[in-house]
Amino acid sequence: MRTKVGFLGAGRIARVLAGGLVRGEDSWELFASSRTRAGGEAFRKALPQARLYPEERNRDLVGESEIVFLCVRPQEAIGVLRQIRPMTAGKRIVSVAAGVSLASILSEVEPSARVVRAMPNLPSLIGQGVIPYCLGSGREAGDREWAKRLLERFGEAVELEESLFPLATALIGCGPAYVCAFLAPLLRFAAESGLRAAEARRMVLATVSGALALLRQTDLDPAEVVQESRTPGGITNAAVSVLEEEGWQETLRRALDAAWSRAKALEEA
Ligand SMILES: NC(=O)c1ccc[n+]([C@@H]2O[C@H](COP(=O)([O-])OP(=O)(O)OC[C@H]3O[C@@H](n4cnc5c(N)ncnc54)[C@H](OP(=O)(O)O)[C@@H]3O)[C@@H](O)[C@H]2O)c1
Repeated sequence: MRTKVGFLGAGRIARVLAGGLVRGEDSWELFASSRTRAGGEAFRKALPQARLYPEERNRDLVGESEIVFLCVRPQEAIGVLRQIRPMTAGKRIVSVAAGVSLASILSEVEPSARVVRAMPNLPSLIGQGVIPYCLGSGREAGDREWAKRLLERFGEAVELEESLFPLATALIGCGPAYVCAFLAPLLRFAAESGLRAAEARRMVLATVSGALALLRQTDLDPAEVVQESRTPGGITNAAVSVLEEEGWQETLRRALDAAWSRAKALEEA
């Protein structure tokens, strides 16, 4: 028997989650809805087996589904919940809408709906995401079990107090973009400086994997690794000195503060 999973919203994160769920398995039946027909096309392209619904039929989608992922933008979430409310009794609902609190979700669904709030990141597509999540209070003991089992399909599922969600969003939700923002200029530099693109990509990614494995397998602090690499007068030292002169740590700190402030503002909206 295939598990029926519906996505309210067929955008970027819905494609990531649906792709992460399926990953070569045929045990999921997928439904997705979008506001416009064009909005559903990218979902259909990525997941041709999915059945698409227009937004007017969100209730039918929920009626069909055992598990429902709420994947619309934060400002659309409450309206969609109001629309589907009569169909939510007994459903498992996972909201990934940033800033939309469990309390506001619970107040818009039937009391028997089992609600999880989660904040996945992009590597969820390949089962290597990190997914902080929290459950509605007063839920049944079994809810913790199904939520964890479902979210572990996407990677590392970590139950976290809801008050920490803005921080988790700034660090974990946005995290892959920070890493890729750092990698993009490395690859550009490699290409401009004469390395073949495929070789540059293979070596740069392996270097990053190696650095991560070193941190995982030892108790070295990343700052120690930087210091260990800095022979006075040496080559790494020349590069890191420029990063320091340019105030890259302060820049990153400002970027994190901006993300955290934005996530907190959404929570309070
Ligand atoms: N992107 C991420 O990395 C990420 C990570 C974690 C959490 N999130 C959260 O995920 C949510 C969606 O983000 P996104 O980046 O996936 O946005 P997105 O690409 O803009 O996708 C939003 C989707 O919602 C659809 N939609 C809008 N109103 C609808 C309605 N009434 N009924 C059904 N579908 C409707 C849109 O359809 P149309 O295209 O036709 O307008 C679109 O398919 C946000 O709340 C965000 O906070 C995103």
